[in-house]
Amino acid sequence: MDIKALFNITYGLYVLSVKQGEKDNGCIVNSVMQVAEKPVRLAVSVSKQNLTCEMLKESGVFNLSCLTTEADFELFKRFGFQSGRDAEKFQGMSGLKRSENGLYYLSENTNAFLSGKVVEMSDLGTHMLFIAEVTDGEVLSDGWGCSYAYYQADIKPKPAPAKKKSWVCEVCGYVHEGEEVPDDFVCPICKHGKDAFRPA
Ligand SMILES: Cc1cc2nc3c(=O)[nH]c(=O)nc-3n(C[C@H](O)[C@H](O)[C@H](O)COP(=O)(O)O)c2cc1C
Repeated sequence: MDIKALFNITYGLYVLSVKQGEKDNGCIVNSVMQVAEKPVRLAVSVSKQNLTCEMLKESGVFNLSCLTTEADFELFKRFGFQSGRDAEKFQGMSGLKRSENGLYYLSENTNAFLSGKVVEMSDLGTHMLFIAEVTDGEVLSDGWGCSYAYYQADIKPKPAPAKKKSWVCEVCGYVHEGEEVPDDFVCPICKHGKDAFRPA
C-alpha cells in the first residue's frame, strides 16, 4: 500500500477550542466533517496525546473556528506546534470572542464558527472520535476556507535549501561551490590551482 495515497484526501483546517473550569485551550485540527443532517452531527477526531482531547472528554463541549487562507503561520504555531500544558494559547491574541457556551472562537482569519456538544465518543487507539450535535454557528466572513493542501503549499515555510559547501581562492577571492575542489581545478579568474583554495 502506498501511504502517500492518504495525502490526497482533502481536508479543511480548524481551531478546536475547549474550556475546562477556568482553563481555555485549543488546537489545530483537520479531521472534521459533517456526518449527519437531521439532527446535524459533526465528527471530530483528536489525538489522545493532545491536552485538547483530554479536556474535551471531560467537558463535552467545543467550538470550531473555520480558518481561511488569511490565517498566517504564527496562528498555526500558536495552536498546532505547542501544547496547552506549556502555554496559554489564547493569551495576547486579538480577534477573540466567546460564544453562548462560554468558549472562545476566532473572529478573524475565519469564515465561520460552530459550537458542538459531544453525544458519542469512540476510542480509535491513537485518536478519540467525537460525534457532536451542533448547538450554535455563525458565518463570519466570505473568506476562502483554508485547506490542508493550501497550508502545505502557501502557509508553511519551505525548509531552507541545504547550504552548499564553498571554497574561496586565497589569491583572487573567487568562490567555488561543491563538496571538494577537484584536483585538476583551475581558478577561472587567476588561474591558480587547487592549493590556492580554502574552505569559505
Ligand atoms: C496543520 C495541522 C493539522 C493538525 N491536525 C490535527 C488533527 O486533525 N488532529 C489532532 O489531534 N491534531 C492535529 N494537529 C496537531 C495539534 O494541533 C497539536 O498537536 C497541538 O499542539 C496540540 O495541542 P494541545 O496539547 O494543547 O491540545 C494538527 C497540527 C497542524 C499544524
